Amino acid sequence: VRPQDIITKKRDGERLSQDEINYFIRGVTDESWADYQISALIMAMFINELDLSEQSYITQAMLNSGKVMDFSDIELPIVDKHSTGGVGDKTSLIIAPLAASCGLAVPMISGRGLGHTGGTLDKLESIEGFNVNLTTVEFKQIVRECGYAMAGQTTDFVPADKKIYSLRDATATVPTIPLIVASIMSKKLAEGLDSLVLDVKTGNGAFMREFKDAERLARALVETGNSCGVKTQALITDMNQPLGKYVGNSHEVYECIKVLRNESDEQMKPMLEVSIELTCRLLIMSDVAKSTGEARKILIEKLESGKALEKFRKNVELQNGNPKICDKPEILLDKDLELFEIKADRSGYIGEIQTEEIGKAISSIGGGRTKADDRVDHAVGYAALTRLCDEVKVGEPLGILYCRNQSQNEAIGETLRTAYKIVDTEKNQLELIKKVIT
Ligand code: URA
Repeated sequence: VRPQDIITKKRDGERLSQDEINYFIRGVTDESWADYQISALIMAMFINELDLSEQSYITQAMLNSGKVMDFSDIELPIVDKHSTGGVGDKTSLIIAPLAASCGLAVPMISGRGLGHTGGTLDKLESIEGFNVNLTTVEFKQIVRECGYAMAGQTTDFVPADKKIYSLRDATATVPTIPLIVASIMSKKLAEGLDSLVLDVKTGNGAFMREFKDAERLARALVETGNSCGVKTQALITDMNQPLGKYVGNSHEVYECIKVLRNESDEQMKPMLEVSIELTCRLLIMSDVAKSTGEARKILIEKLESGKALEKFRKNVELQNGNPKICDKPEILLDKDLELFEIKADRSGYIGEIQTEEIGKAISSIGGGRTKADDRVDHAVGYAALTRLCDEVKVGEPLGILYCRNQSQNEAIGETLRTAYKIVDTEKNQLELIKKVIT
């Protein structure tokens, strides 16, 4: 068999066998397949889809492309959270320290920005010195010492996802359920978890825009997790506007530290709310709390007492980051940025926010990547000062663009402004948490 035989088969809409999928993933891992061959097969998989058995084969093959972690020497419940990706979606940075402060262990393998969405690793790298390239031994040691660690896929841990993920990002082949399931679940199953909560985003800033697709994805993820012995639940949450206040790597870390310091403002509240809801599920699945009411009480105490912030600080120290950001989060923000207000072009109510456009715009000025090896400018970003249903007057700022120069403002300022549709009548608020899949 040659790579082109497998590509031909999928290109022509045929079903791949387990051996063929294993051969593909082996070729990705040992680099015997060229990037263009991997990309061609992924595109064929995107267009012709994978059925349930192919989805299960590719998940297993990716999971077994590297080592599987063993935390049997840690007595604590091993848990994690993963999101399907959104704009301003930074809840991992709240959930991991919060869960760790409640006595859970969180080995969080994260990703980089994908398409128009941000990635936890890129956010963390906006912290001076922060190392996301940990060996499996270092990763486990940090989980032991502070209750959580955050790192990327490595050459010994789910290497196939590392490669495929970056090629999917650069070839517009992200939004397809089987590949998302394989990507997320291969990483999560390799973490040796007891429980997993998934944040499946839906709306105009999510890969699954339609609720029914998000629900299908959530069920596929939950079924895959549970059938592999990991207690798994999913929340379907709204992504019709950026989550919380900021979009852009260092600004998002700044927002998380403000929340952990109990200094959050009104715009940050929805982000905290989603973080709490997701962490509640982890406490319940781990038998730390019996109900969401009880879990919520515990979490509020961990936030208000500063215990979650202390976990965050310890993790930053252990991953070589500068812990001073915990005392002075402002040092994360680049002083050389230029600020441009994005102003309402009429009075009325905010009826729609084209969230993907905001994500793409920030990505295009360096906040994300257009090619797999692009460098990220962690400093650029956007502050959403207004939310859906808010009443605005003509000329009032809807948000603030933080960028390098006037030409970046010329490139995306108008896109940001037209991302807001201002209407005459107030619409109903959208629910933040749309459904729980258990
Ligand atoms: N997150 C992942 O880890 N993989 C995907 O494919 C999408 C979101």
